[in-house]
This record gives sequence, C-alpha cells and structure tokens, in this order.
Amino acid sequence: MIHEYDVVVVGGGIAGLYTALTAAQSCRVAVVSKVHVTRSHSVAAQGGIAASLGNEEEDNWQWHMYDTVKGSDYLADQEAVEILAKEAPNAIVALEHLGVPFTRNMQGKIEQRRFGGHTKNYGKAPIKRACYVSDRTGRAIMDTLYDSCQIKGINFYNEVFILKLLFSGEHCCGVAGYDIATSEPQIFHAKAVVLATGGSGKIFKTTSNGFASTADGFALAMDSLIPLEDMEFVQFHPTGIYGLGILISEAARAEGGVLRNGLGESFMEHYAPTLKDLAPRDIISRSIQTELKEGRGVEGNGFVHLDLTQIGKEKLAEKLPEISSFVKTYIGIDPTETPIPVAPTCHYMMGGIPTDINGHVLVNETAGILPGLFAVGECACVSVHGANRLGCNSLIDLVVFGRRTGISVSELAKEKTLSPLPQQAENIVIDKINSLLGSLGHEHVPILRGEMQCLMTQKCSVFRNNEELKEALQSIRHLQKRFLNVGLAYKDKVFNLELQETLELSNMLTVAEVIVFSALQRKESRGAHFRSDYPERKDDEGLRHSLVYLTPQGLKTIYKPVSITRFTPEKRSY
Ligand code: FUM
Repeated sequence: MIHEYDVVVVGGGIAGLYTALTAAQSCRVAVVSKVHVTRSHSVAAQGGIAASLGNEEEDNWQWHMYDTVKGSDYLADQEAVEILAKEAPNAIVALEHLGVPFTRNMQGKIEQRRFGGHTKNYGKAPIKRACYVSDRTGRAIMDTLYDSCQIKGINFYNEVFILKLLFSGEHCCGVAGYDIATSEPQIFHAKAVVLATGGSGKIFKTTSNGFASTADGFALAMDSLIPLEDMEFVQFHPTGIYGLGILISEAARAEGGVLRNGLGESFMEHYAPTLKDLAPRDIISRSIQTELKEGRGVEGNGFVHLDLTQIGKEKLAEKLPEISSFVKTYIGIDPTETPIPVAPTCHYMMGGIPTDINGHVLVNETAGILPGLFAVGECACVSVHGANRLGCNSLIDLVVFGRRTGISVSELAKEKTLSPLPQQAENIVIDKINSLLGSLGHEHVPILRGEMQCLMTQKCSVFRNNEELKEALQSIRHLQKRFLNVGLAYKDKVFNLELQETLELSNMLTVAEVIVFSALQRKESRGAHFRSDYPERKDDEGLRHSLVYLTPQGLKTIYKPVSITRFTPEKRSY
C-alpha cells in the first residue's frame, strides 16, 4: 500500500511527536512507529527536563549553556547549545500550555530540582534547574503530546517497521517498510522524511533502554551512505538496578540519595568534591567502576549501594513513586529501609545522524544537506551533548529541536511538490522479507544478539583500551559474517517477531561496528569515552567531531571542527 503525505515522521517518541505536532500546523503529517507510539522509549524518562526558569533560585541561560558545554567535555557545538539553553524556558511554557501536569511548588510555579552537572554561577554550586512530573516526566509529556497529535488529526501507523529510505535522485522522497501484523509492504511517499527513531542501548547487555532501542534509524542512515557522528560517545548512567539495568533516576540523588561503597563510605566526595553525587554521569560511572575494581564493591559483588533510606517515606512516595515501585517489583527491596544495589547501565548515544540546528541531515564535513531528510532526538547529533550529556538535557533537546525541525519540514513542504517514488518500492520490501523467511541458515538471532551484547558490555563500556577494542571489532565483524547465515524457524507472515528481531539485529550489528571503530580511532579520553591507554584529553588532536561512513572498502572516518563561540576548553573538575 502506498500512502502520500507532506511529511512522514519515523518514530513516535517525544522528538517525533513534537516535530509532527509543529508540522501539522500547515502540513499533512503521518507518524510511523514500530511500536504503538505510546510505548516509545521516551515514556521511560524519569527525572526531569532542564530549563533555566529560575523558579526556585536565580538562574539564566548562560549558566545552563556553560554547564552543558563543560559537561560535554567541550565537544558540543556551542552554536547549538546556545539555542538549546536560550529556547528551553519557552519550550517548557509551551509544554505547560499543552497540558503537561508539571509538579508545582508552594507558589504554584513549576517546581525544579537539582540534577547532575547543573550549577549556578559557572560551576560554583548545584542549582535547581530540572522541571519534572514526580519521576514520570517522560510519560506525562508523551501522553500530553499524543493527545494533542490526535486532536490535530495526525495519522498514526503503529507497528510498521521501516526498512529503507527512498530517493528520487538526490532527494529523499519517502520510506519503505512493512506492517508487522501482516508483513504487507507499506510505502510512505512524502516531501520530507524525519528520522526520530531513538537510541540503540540494546546493543549492550545491560541497558536502561526499552526493547525498541535497536539502532534502526542509525542503520537506515548508514545504508543510504550517510555518515554517523561521534558514535564513540556512549553514555552509561551510573545507577541502573544491578543485573537488570533498569534506570534509577538521578532524581533519587537530587532528593538526597547517596552512593555508598562496600565500606559504607559516600565515595563521590573523593572524586567530585563540589558536586559529589550530582557530578556528571561520565564521572560518577567511572568512580563506581573504580570502586569496584579496587575491591570496594558491596560484599565483593559488582555493585555499590544507592542509599535512599534517609529521604523519608513520605517524600519518596511523593517525589519518586515510580522508582520505589520498580525496586519493590523487580528486586523485592523497600527503598525506604534498604539500600539499592546499582551499577552503570548503557543509557544514551551522544552521537548520531549529523544535523544542523534546523534538523536537516548533513552528509559531509562541510555541512552539505541531504534534501528532504531530517533527523531529531537521540538518533540525531546536532551536537548539543558532545562527549557527555547532562541529565535532563535530553528531554529539552527533543522539544527544542523537535519544534525547529517541525518548522523546517513545514517550510520545505510549502515550497515543494512530491518527487516521484522509485519504481518497485514495494518490491524492495517483498524481496527482503522473502529472502529472510526463505533462508535456510543455521545461525540463530538470540545467540548472535547475546554474543554481541556481552562483547560490547565487556570490551566497549565505561573503560576502554586498544587491545579490547581491537578484539571487539574483530568479533563484531565475525558476528556480521555469521549473520549472513541466519535462519528463521518461524515462516509465517502474521506477527512474525522473529523476522523483526532479525532485521533489528542486522541494524545493531551495523551500528556496533561503528561504535567500536570510532572508539578505536579516538586516541584520547573525553567525556564518556575513556581510554585507559590514553587517559588524557588531547585538545590538539581530539577536539573535533568524527564522521564514520560506509564505503565499498569498509568504514572510513573523516573529521569536522567543533563550533566554539563562548567557552574555550578548560580542565574539567567538579
Ligand atoms: O536519571 C534520569 O532521570 C535520567 C534523565 C536523563 O537521562 O535525562
């Protein structure tokens, strides 16, 4: 079936919905999602959304910008960060007007809490900058946006898996996929395509990400020979429930929770004397791993404790109900009485599909635009997060750049007519599905996926080195070869989840190779990318963005400069 729209948005998380809602002021918009949109991973965002509203104490966008640039270890593009920090307060007001039920303070204003790396007066002390809805901020924003999109008449195509970007000459003119319920081809023909497909945490064994975060948008871009930017920078959130990876929000530390090692010491004061447990995530994750490596885990185990017992029952119930219920449900712990076992968990990709500040996808180091194609949210790299994202800066990124991308696609849709679809668009899908269903190989997706996840967690995680990265690259390439011999046991076309998981694994293997390859090339330590064999940041050679392309000879890296407008790189201490 062929559907015609002005704009098609692939992915229905907060970035996708905000873009769609903005574009729908003047365009016909479809949102296509492989899950029902209200199950997109944005709903898992817990702790808050950053903006210098100053509702609790003095704040301004310049401090927010400074913290974001410093948090990024100076790799963020400052032109983009300035937009993020300046536009954030209005973005919150816009969300409030749509109906997001933000938690209120005693004056009736939106309440704000502390969050890692957010400070007053250029790093002097922590500041309350995170607006929130208890610890269900993502859920509340998603529900509000979904309702608003419904009212606006946006069409949703849920449970449709996209396999291919379509081009008319140089212009992106649609996407091709299939209906998961029937395996029937679904072609979306549009003047503009927006990729808002989220992250790729499922490449790692331990992750806070939902099952849908399988690198699909990154792989779609690579398949169309679009580079990926700064993919070596993978964020590990310090506090995942040990063994499960489920997120325990940084808000828990903002409300008074403390990390303790096996000796009961609140060890963060040794690593970050000013911000302590609210230092940026890269620093806390490395500190936890160091405690573990030096034998100060709890009772010799691979975890430390997050101690919330001093917060008090009432406050925990009011401010952190979601995480309180998670730990009760999943590990049988009452956090008002017992500390929670935690360890770093893969949380976020700082890198992604390169874009400009209006969401246009860039194809080279000189900001060449790919007409008709846009990207936004975690799959994009505008680059406001550089080498390390601050907590709460993701949700605000989705809204600020979702709005800007929505405006860009509307402008393009006004000017353009539909470019012709490539002939045989449906056959691309039919051939792909038939070849996988007909394959007789003896390799199995769960086995290959499990090996990839273990490998990435063991060799390309918080600490990295040349030897392990080389081993990881070789092993990922070996897994890619084995994948060519994959066989599906289930041949039916109705809700064939084995088929979907096969396509997702293919995407993850593509992107895992890019992550490891990029990590191997960067011979310095910056933000979330820490090389034990190159422990220093090296601004002379490292202060640049990496762009990795697929070429007939394999992966190739080129570099582009970082935009530095206000804050010159300093030594980063907290
Ligand atoms: O800890 C958290 O609540 C996560 C927030 C974020 O990733 O921005």
